[in-house]
Amino acid sequence: MSSYAQSYRRAEEDPSGFWLEAASALAWDKQPTQGVDDSRAPLYSWFGDGTLNLSVSALDRHVAAGRGGQAALIYDSAVLGLKRSYSYSELLEQVAKTAGALAGLGVGVGDRVLLYMPMIPEAVIGMLACARLGAIHSVVFGGFAPRELASRIDDAAPAAILTATGGVEPNRRVEYLPTLAEALRLSEHTVPHVLVTPREGFATGLSDVDESVPGTRWHDAAALVSAAPAAPPAVVPSTHPLYILYTSGTTGAPKGVVRDTGGYGTALAWSMRNIYGVGPGQTMFTASDVGWVVGHSYIVYAPLLVGATTVLYEGKPVGTPDAGAFWRVAAEHGARALFTAPTALRAIRKADPQAELVGQYDLSELKAIFAAGERLDPDTAAWTAEVTGKPVIDNWWQTETGWPIAANPFGLDPQPIKLGSPTLPVPGYRVRILDAFGEQVSEPNAEGNIALELPLPPGALTTLWGNDERFVSSYLSAFPGYYASGDSGYLDEDGYVFVMGRTDDVINVSGHRLSTGAMEQVLASHPAVAECAVIGVNDPLKGQRPSGYVVLKSGVELSEEELAPQLIALVRKDIGPVADFKDVRVVAALPKTRSGKILRKTMRQIADGEDYQVPGTIEDASVLDTLIGVLRPARD
Ligand code: COA
Ligand code: AMP
Repeated sequence: MSSYAQSYRRAEEDPSGFWLEAASALAWDKQPTQGVDDSRAPLYSWFGDGTLNLSVSALDRHVAAGRGGQAALIYDSAVLGLKRSYSYSELLEQVAKTAGALAGLGVGVGDRVLLYMPMIPEAVIGMLACARLGAIHSVVFGGFAPRELASRIDDAAPAAILTATGGVEPNRRVEYLPTLAEALRLSEHTVPHVLVTPREGFATGLSDVDESVPGTRWHDAAALVSAAPAAPPAVVPSTHPLYILYTSGTTGAPKGVVRDTGGYGTALAWSMRNIYGVGPGQTMFTASDVGWVVGHSYIVYAPLLVGATTVLYEGKPVGTPDAGAFWRVAAEHGARALFTAPTALRAIRKADPQAELVGQYDLSELKAIFAAGERLDPDTAAWTAEVTGKPVIDNWWQTETGWPIAANPFGLDPQPIKLGSPTLPVPGYRVRILDAFGEQVSEPNAEGNIALELPLPPGALTTLWGNDERFVSSYLSAFPGYYASGDSGYLDEDGYVFVMGRTDDVINVSGHRLSTGAMEQVLASHPAVAECAVIGVNDPLKGQRPSGYVVLKSGVELSEEELAPQLIALVRKDIGPVADFKDVRVVAALPKTRSGKILRKTMRQIADGEDYQVPGTIEDASVLDTLIGVLRPARD
């Protein structure tokens, strides 16, 4: 039996034993003796009697073990031409002092701290500083607009916010302070302290926002941190929330995924060695953003937990300055693993189809390229493998799970790659295909809902912030005894997982998960719009892109040319540039069922040129006939 099969079976037969053993990869204050706790099923938790501080596992113990001089974090900014390396000792000092600065403002165990940060070292330091204090961080991606930020502020009710004066996009500088001030004015919760890391070249500074929001004090983070004492690590229960990460659901209200401490740390440490094949003294380059789950897990926590070096890259796959950027960073810092989103690989291929730039760099240290965040299409996987000569490894997971559900166990026991599949279920995950009635589909290659048998392994979400009921109703009620992933797909005859798409109204644009429901809410707020639908249509570069269809209120005399830019601007203002909402059409009517449900799936199938069936419950089939001409061009 292969070592993968052995591990999988052990995790299945004795989950508590398997994961308690894996937990010894962390530095515990009190080593756990309890594995999974099912006393509150369907809510499960892990390692109930363990206590620890995760920043100790990520930093202090490596320094104590003699790794103090090794690079822990390498910041490489392609947009500013800056590079800076932090050794484990330096990173520990910065983290402890930042924690000291936060503690000086009254932040302590269980308090929430929101981060709205670009890809700079202070973002990683801020997250680890929260972990050190037992404060719960919540990072919000920089491409979100004030209203989205405000909804997260109100839900998490943070005691402090960490930010910077701005971020750098290739075509512009993004001023963070006006956005944040606007979000604070929109939110009901008052945040007493905002700590601002100053960056050169931004128009808005501290003096411009000072006193702009009643009840909020704005501090210079650099000054505060340099004057602060180093804070000791606060020991917390393993089940203590490490962070909240908001993700898109089907409605406009984002879901606050809650991650525990010891279970997450254990799962990440296991995955680094067994999936990504990166260990102490080796380098991982994860080209994502700290605002996404991939960034939380594989830029920040996992590499540091195993004593590796992590690369924090500020830039894009193309245009900063060219499509060789990832190869340059991987070569220069000797990365053993490169982890990115398929979109980035497609963007590189589009800009450098002959892969002329790959050959300019020495990629001999690089052992594999990992991709996640959206389906890795076979064509992109094959091209990347061919031009780099490296295995390209798809892995399927979600913000909710925090680490891969299905992957090729490259570090443990590489399995044959099947293009289009993220390979096999990871030990601890029992992946099942269920039909609409929740019955298990046992024949291979038959598509259905992908569900995970409960309990989930350590590391996966434990609940939604402050909302156990929504956790249960969103994920655990559809199929009792299972976690509903929201994805559809199948298992082939060898047990390989194939993930084909979402079963809900969540779409995936450039590896970013977005809610079409949230975009519909924004469109519906325009006074000219009577009703609307937003669907995700296939896009050769971005995977999907949102496409909106609006029906005007009767008597409104606006043309499509006048209205479309207004609606595009509205989505950008209310959700943010990350929504990438650029297509909107005015239509006479939307196709609906007799009960009034808009036939979004049928619309998407038509737009994607797929076969479709007109549901028998359609209210007026002629509406669909007139729409076909409008929908089809969306694909071209
Ligand atoms: N702050 C502010 N704005 C941001 C932002 C941030 N952190 N990140 C993106 N945006 C803006 C962009 O500037 C762009 O604005 P524009 O409409 O004014 O041009 C918009 O949001 C869309 O950006 P993006 O999704 O990056 O698209 P793009 O066309 O600029 O670039 C790619 C395309 C493929 C190069 C890019 O999407 C990419 O790097 N994808 C990889 C995604 C990834 O790593 N995901 C992580 C999941 S694992
Ligand atoms: P996010 O929570 O932003 O990471 O998005 C998770 C969703 O992205 C999943 O539910 C899938 O729909 C999709 N996804 C992520 N990784 C993959 C993958 N490797 N293959 C197919 N879909 C993926």
